Amino acid sequence: MPWFVRPAARSWTCPPAPSGVRDFHAALPGYAPTPLTELPDLAAQLGVGRVFVKDESSRLGLPAFKALGASWAVHRVLAERAAQAPGAGPVTLVSATDGNHGRAVARMARLLDQRAQIIVPRGVHPDAVAAIAAEGAEVIRVRGPYDEAVRRAAEAAAAADAVLVQDTAWPGYERIPGWIVQGYSTLCREIDEQLAAAGAPSPGLVAVPVGVGSLAQAVVTHYRSRPSGPAPALLSVEPEAAACVLESLTRGAPVSVTTGETTMAGLNCGTPSSIAWPRLAAGLDAAVAVTDAESARAAAELAALGVSSGPCGAAALAGSRAALTGEGAEERRTALGLGPAALVVLLSTEGTSANPHATAVPAARTPR
Ligand SMILES: Cc1ncc(COP(=O)(O)O)c(C=O)c1O
Repeated sequence: MPWFVRPAARSWTCPPAPSGVRDFHAALPGYAPTPLTELPDLAAQLGVGRVFVKDESSRLGLPAFKALGASWAVHRVLAERAAQAPGAGPVTLVSATDGNHGRAVARMARLLDQRAQIIVPRGVHPDAVAAIAAEGAEVIRVRGPYDEAVRRAAEAAAAADAVLVQDTAWPGYERIPGWIVQGYSTLCREIDEQLAAAGAPSPGLVAVPVGVGSLAQAVVTHYRSRPSGPAPALLSVEPEAAACVLESLTRGAPVSVTTGETTMAGLNCGTPSSIAWPRLAAGLDAAVAVTDAESARAAAELAALGVSSGPCGAAALAGSRAALTGEGAEERRTALGLGPAALVVLLSTEGTSANPHATAVPAARTPR
């Protein structure tokens, strides 16, 4: 099993996300915290005390968590533009997407009377592409993988009255992706409040689906900046077909990987975000890669327990199962500092309608 672990990450600390993001989201029409659902059946299966699933299948009217980042970043972009060029006309918000982020940018453009141009790589489900177009965005499809779509979006955003709102960073383009990461902090703040309301202790493990690592950056920033309390182990989960963060952690430097085909479209990214990388390198305890069959099986299990989870969302369960059970599990659990009473939080980052790949391929992991 592709696996990386570095327990020293739990004692690393960093400054927190800025305050004010949660208040911004709370004032948006339709805002409500997404459910944090306890699933005792999964706790028994994984051999831990309690399991909670953060269910992002309906977030600000969209079926994935991405609107948290897009809304805050678009707000900051438009506020800055209004200050610099009062009375300027609408802007074109340009972005590459493997589905969810582009739809969120398109939704924000529509709500705020701006335009959107969304570049879509190969491998995104036709329903996800149609949903972006239905937000009124101009959709441009490219034949290449996600990294190529990002390059095309950066070129398109050089046009007059266009701004790139991309959820990954590279040297020279880091400010707007930084706002997107700040936007994701609301999700972690909600989990803190929901666990406290449930009388539950703080987590021992948080499992995060990872594409370029921006969400994981927000999660690391949140849990490594808390002033007190035990630090949880943080686990990144990627598809085997696109495990750029696992590969980078293993090599000790950020690298791009050639991506293949995967149903986990939102995670099908070949290059870690430049601003995420230092945080992930220092603050992630472990990384694992899973197959499409494992994510499909996890999605089917979550569905049976009443949680709508698409292939990317269910990767959190698939990765946790790979880490906590099976051959070598004792060693991995020790490295993660997880006892039998530990509390696990799975970030289910999308519902089934975000990425409606069939979930009926329940094949078990074959030993390699
Ligand atoms: C549903 C879903 N989960 C997780 C991710 C991963 O986020 P990131 O690319 O910030 O690692 C994405 C990214 O598109 C996504 O759409």
